[in-house]
Amino acid sequence: GKHKLALTPPMGWNSWNVWAGAVDQEKVKEAADWMVRSGLAAHGYQYINIDDTWEGPRKPDGEITTNQKFPDLPALAAYIHSLGLKIGIYSSPGPTTCGGYPGSYQHELQDAQTYAKWGIDYLKYDWCSYGNVATGEGLERLEKPYRVMREALDQVPRDIVYSLCQYGMGEVWKWGAEVGGNCWRTTGDINDSWGSLSSIINSQVGHEKYAGPGHWNDPDMLVVGRVGWGNPHPSHLTPNEQIMHITMWCMFSAPLLIGCDLSKLDPFTLALLTNDEALAINQDPLGRPASQVANTGLTEVWARPLADGTKAVALLNMGYWDTPVTVTWSELGLEGRQPVRDLWLHKNLGTYDGQITVKVPIHGAVLLKIGRPSHLAQLPHF
Ligand code: GLA
Repeated sequence: GKHKLALTPPMGWNSWNVWAGAVDQEKVKEAADWMVRSGLAAHGYQYINIDDTWEGPRKPDGEITTNQKFPDLPALAAYIHSLGLKIGIYSSPGPTTCGGYPGSYQHELQDAQTYAKWGIDYLKYDWCSYGNVATGEGLERLEKPYRVMREALDQVPRDIVYSLCQYGMGEVWKWGAEVGGNCWRTTGDINDSWGSLSSIINSQVGHEKYAGPGHWNDPDMLVVGRVGWGNPHPSHLTPNEQIMHITMWCMFSAPLLIGCDLSKLDPFTLALLTNDEALAINQDPLGRPASQVANTGLTEVWARPLADGTKAVALLNMGYWDTPVTVTWSELGLEGRQPVRDLWLHKNLGTYDGQITVKVPIHGAVLLKIGRPSHLAQLPHF
């Protein structure tokens, strides 16, 4: 039977940001091993996703094959499942993928059947080269390939998380859920620079109302740890910027797809990725991503309601020097004295009346939980 999937945002790893075209079966197996060995799996990371460049030529009957980098994908899937993890794959609705490999155009049902046969649990479905064969106008043209693959996935006997990757065209957040996506990319490709991170964060304003359990905004994959499209190097984001990155992906209820070399995790990166108090915000069952409640141009405040009746609040410093940032209870719909906890410091800051001001380092973020858990805690609507 078919189940509702991704009721909380998917968590896992994807090969692209570290390996790009240099990915192969051994590297994916190694990522799965390290997912368990590092302890990440025990914190909820589950998907091991192969991105583009795995595809081989189609057989005479049209069935897709893997290229020589992936000698036995079903065996890899079985191995990943034996570790208690899940496996994802990538395709594009056009004749070719972004990397120039065979896409799913006019083979959608056959490919969905092949993925199910191989044991695939997650499909990232791009747009590349579809523009050359697309028909129709406007939104219909943009939505069509995603509806076609949705129908195909619905026909196969396996639950497969469906991730749309068309960079936000046609304001996909407004219709990604309607075409059956479990998540949809809202931006172009991320990279490990402050310009990329800050512009992606600021582009997410207002998207929160379109996401919820089973259907999430995806501002792209994580760029902490060793990344670099086949030439791994430590992330060029500063430690403060990396804290902001993880803070906001938790606030957005974004998919948390680690993009680094898991065999070379440093303690800082591991700590960033395994803060259970931050992950609980990302995975909060109410599933209501943050809205921006204040923006001075140099500082920002984002807030979201949690299932237990408290609020998660992120204070961001986008400016050029350390600065105090204030959040007022009226911005949060709270009043009176409220307890405040710092989720990166794992520390109760005390009880505050009306507002709190915290010093936030340059390009850094503070993640707070404010308020008392309520007897009237809200339940998610599925
Ligand atoms: C696009 C996507 C990336 C990656 C590449 C693969 O650029 O946005 O995330 O999947 O294609 O070719």
